[in-house]
Amino acid sequence: MRYVTLMQLFEHPITQKYVKRAGLAHAISTSYHAFRLAKQKQVNPDLAVKAAFLHDMGHYTWYRNGQWDFDLYKENDIHAIKGAERAHKLLIRLGEDRKNAKQIALAVLLHTDSYLPAGDLDRNALQEIVAQADELDEEPSGKHHYRKISDTKARKKIAQLDEWIDAELAKAVNEEHEKSEV
Ligand SMILES: [Fe+2]
Repeated sequence: MRYVTLMQLFEHPITQKYVKRAGLAHAISTSYHAFRLAKQKQVNPDLAVKAAFLHDMGHYTWYRNGQWDFDLYKENDIHAIKGAERAHKLLIRLGEDRKNAKQIALAVLLHTDSYLPAGDLDRNALQEIVAQADELDEEPSGKHHYRKISDTKARKKIAQLDEWIDAELAKAVNEEHEKSEV
C-alpha cells in the first residue's frame, strides 16, 4: 500500500518551491529512470521514484555577480544533506510511513558524494538506483537543472508514474498471494 502519492508530493508548496528551484524537468526524468531501474532490479518503485523526484530539493543557487559560480558551489554545497532533511520532513508531514521516509531520505543523502572527502560510498540497491537515475539525466555544466517543462505536462507525467507504481505494487501483492497459495 502507498501512504503518499507522487501527485501529493508534487502539489505540496514545499516541493513547488524547492524541486522547481533545482529543475522540475530533471526531477521528472530522473523519476522515470528510477522507475525503470527499480523494475529491473526488483526494488520498491514507490520508494525509488519518490527519492528520485525529491533528490535535488536541497539545492541552493550559487550566484556571484549574477553568474552561476561553480567554484562557490563546489566549496559550499551540501544539497544532498539539506535535501534529505527536507524530503524527510515533507514525507512525514504528508503521512508517509516512517520506515519509508527514512529509506527515501537516505537515498537522497547518498545520491551524490560531492560533499564528501574522496572515497567510495557503499550504497544499497535503492540508493544506487537513485544515483544512477540522476547520472542518466545529467548534462554537462549542470544544464539539466535548467530544462523546462510546463505544469500541464509535468502533471501528466506524474499521474502516469503514479499509475505505473500502483500497477507494479498490485502485481507484487498478487505474486505474493499466489506463492502463499501453492
Ligand atoms: Fe540531480
